[in-house]
Amino acid sequence: MKKVIITGALGQIGSELTMALRERYGYDNVVATDIRSIPGSVAHDSGPFVIADVTDPAKFKEVLCKHKIGTIYHLAAILSHAAEQKPQLAWHINMNGLYYMLELAREQSCQIFTPSSIGAFGPSTPPDRTPQDTIQRPSTMYGVSKVAGELLCDYYYKRFGVDTRGVRYPGLISYVAPPGGGTTDYAVEIYYEAIKNKRFTCFLKQGTYLDMMYMPDALTAAIDLMEADPDRLKHRNAFNVTAMSVAPEDITRSIQKFIPEFSIDYRIDPVRQDIADSWPNSLDDTAAREEWGFSPKYDLDSMTADMLEKLTEKLK
Ligand SMILES: NC(=O)c1ccc[n+]([C@@H]2O[C@H](COP(=O)([O-])OP(=O)(O)OC[C@H]3O[C@@H](n4cnc5c(N)ncnc54)[C@H](O)[C@@H]3O)[C@@H](O)[C@H]2O)c1
Repeated sequence: MKKVIITGALGQIGSELTMALRERYGYDNVVATDIRSIPGSVAHDSGPFVIADVTDPAKFKEVLCKHKIGTIYHLAAILSHAAEQKPQLAWHINMNGLYYMLELAREQSCQIFTPSSIGAFGPSTPPDRTPQDTIQRPSTMYGVSKVAGELLCDYYYKRFGVDTRGVRYPGLISYVAPPGGGTTDYAVEIYYEAIKNKRFTCFLKQGTYLDMMYMPDALTAAIDLMEADPDRLKHRNAFNVTAMSVAPEDITRSIQKFIPEFSIDYRIDPVRQDIADSWPNSLDDTAAREEWGFSPKYDLDSMTADMLEKLTEKLK
């Protein structure tokens, strides 16, 4: 069996995807890489780990050849809020990093997964049940890099036959690794604060509807898409996927079912509110459901129950 490599493996998604892939394909068959090292973290300690910068293709070529890699999960990127703080760096890592990984996938005949985002949409996109194929004119550096990335991945598939696949992830909620500077980070922080302090100050205002998904569904989506029959795929980069469309007050009400004294107030961060306002309220994920059987398991209340249970254990 050809092996799997993950870039950005110590981030919010990578920390859990590394473990999911190791459990599925064997611990020694999944090579985790990141620009930093976190000894003691499961993704770092449970199998091969290499420090590697995605803007250093020579290093990755060495690792790909040494480990006979057949599949790349390319997660390393600068997220939406962080990218507005450092747009030049975000362009460099999100675009050049992706270009180098695509070139390596072409040279070494690898399959490659690249997550896009709801950030690939913008203010002129239809905001409700946003279609799979629609207007994409984002107003953020993150969004610009995600749209360009989707197009580049499709180009590599059509021009060179590289097996490129991707999803447009919504905000992802998880309890293992902290989120890396996105606009939907509040939806993770709210659970930590609910347990620790029974109150939360939200940086997005009431009524800000955004798509979200619990991490187990996000991991299943990535693996299912990569294992999907290519003959069924009409789209490739990237599929709309979502599990719920929620505003801060919806998550608050869901938490209050378990912690009745929990309360929320609001101190709006104008940068993140602007970004959130430019994104859709809800996505239409019919193409993912029809072409590769996407079907998330968690809704808001089942996610809240699991988050509160797992986080309470973690924070003990
Ligand atoms: N988490 C979400 O809610 C979400 C939503 C939509 C899309 N995505 C996409 O999924 C992917 C992973 O997101 P995440 O949430 O895990 O991000 P994250 O910020 O938590 O993790 C990114 C990882 O990349 C690493 N990294 C940064 N620069 C690097 C470089 N030059 N070389 C190698 N590694 C580098 C970081 O150290 C970090 O561990 C990104 O493409 C992101 O845009 C995430």
